[in-house]
Amino acid sequence: MAKRAVSQLDVAGKRVLVRVDFNIPIEQGVEAIASYDQRLRATLPTIRYLIDQRCRVILCSHLGRPGGKEVDALRLAPVGDRLATLLGVPVKCLSETIGPGVEESVASMKPGEVALLENLRFHAGEEKNDPEFAHSIAGLADCFVMDAFAVTHRAHASTVGVPGLLPSAMGLLVQREVESLGQALDIKDENKPLAALMGGAKVSDKIMVLENLLGKLDHLIVGGGMSVTFLKAQGYDTGASSIEEDRLDFAKEVLSRATQLGVQIHLPVDVVVADRFAADAAGVKTVLVNQVPPDWLIMDIGETTARLFAESLGQCKTIVWNGPMGVFEMPRFSQGTRTVAGAMADLNGVTTVVGGGSTAEAVEEMGLMDRMTHVSTGGGASLEFLEGKELPGITALPDA
Ligand code: 3PG
Repeated sequence: MAKRAVSQLDVAGKRVLVRVDFNIPIEQGVEAIASYDQRLRATLPTIRYLIDQRCRVILCSHLGRPGGKEVDALRLAPVGDRLATLLGVPVKCLSETIGPGVEESVASMKPGEVALLENLRFHAGEEKNDPEFAHSIAGLADCFVMDAFAVTHRAHASTVGVPGLLPSAMGLLVQREVESLGQALDIKDENKPLAALMGGAKVSDKIMVLENLLGKLDHLIVGGGMSVTFLKAQGYDTGASSIEEDRLDFAKEVLSRATQLGVQIHLPVDVVVADRFAADAAGVKTVLVNQVPPDWLIMDIGETTARLFAESLGQCKTIVWNGPMGVFEMPRFSQGTRTVAGAMADLNGVTTVVGGGSTAEAVEEMGLMDRMTHVSTGGGASLEFLEGKELPGITALPDA
């Protein structure tokens, strides 16, 4: 059953509490906020919609994991300043989350004004889903809009407590995330062939996604650290690369089930190896998968593999991508990810859905955000969605 959308909620002229997820990598420094502002940009449509409806827009978010205490480095004001620049209207950054000072500031807001509460996680009640804390934030508003897709997998006061207390709806970002990620889970014939491009460090992180998607796929393309375990399961010598011994049987099972289901499996045929797990490793070369030297580590997919992966992606109508193809954060081992991302960005008439977290960060760093159909803002949340799990922050919202 679809959830109520913000367009179905009577918001005109009201005080609207909007849960956003402005949890950006603030440890990179405030000067870097502009390079990691995908989550801020993604909420602009909802905020603009509410401004147009003459609402008093009260934004709330967490930032980092302060553990219920005030941590100066995790104050939201610098993030609010960046939002104001993107939005083109002032954002009043409050120095508290709840309390009389906040109530006064909210009471003085005029229609169309925007305020941002201080970090929700400065209060232990947020993560504990404490009813009293939920009441304090809900008491600031007439209704609630959930636009923080990236935190919908957490059952916190602001994600599941508040929707029980106020008329509530999904914001435009949550709507878009659910529709875009949902396309892979509910694939229609006209949107096939469907490929899952899977990467990232570990098979164990992707087990449930593989379980949930395998039966729907036409192509399963595996790169990144997780492909090493698959190569090992096929009997290749993978040198000194770390593999997940306890996932070898699972990898074998996926390979055999895929064959039974008629899913085409694509694994690396060549790889970039290094003599050390380091950005400045002295020895770096590309070898065939059956020629990985002992004591060397697999760091990226090779050029031929990247080209073959790109060719397979070109045969598809829908692609879901989760996980880099190599150690992307080290420039010498980022080429495989760059090649497949570039190939996806160049495809016409293909729906390209990119999972959040490190994959979204890679796409953002490459400047390809606008050339994908959808780049999820959710790391853990997008993974849990693709695993077919219920997301408490969405379940808590009323049906349409
Ligand atoms: C995220 O960045 O994935 C969300 O903001 C959730 O953050 P958390 O893992 O600290 O709950």
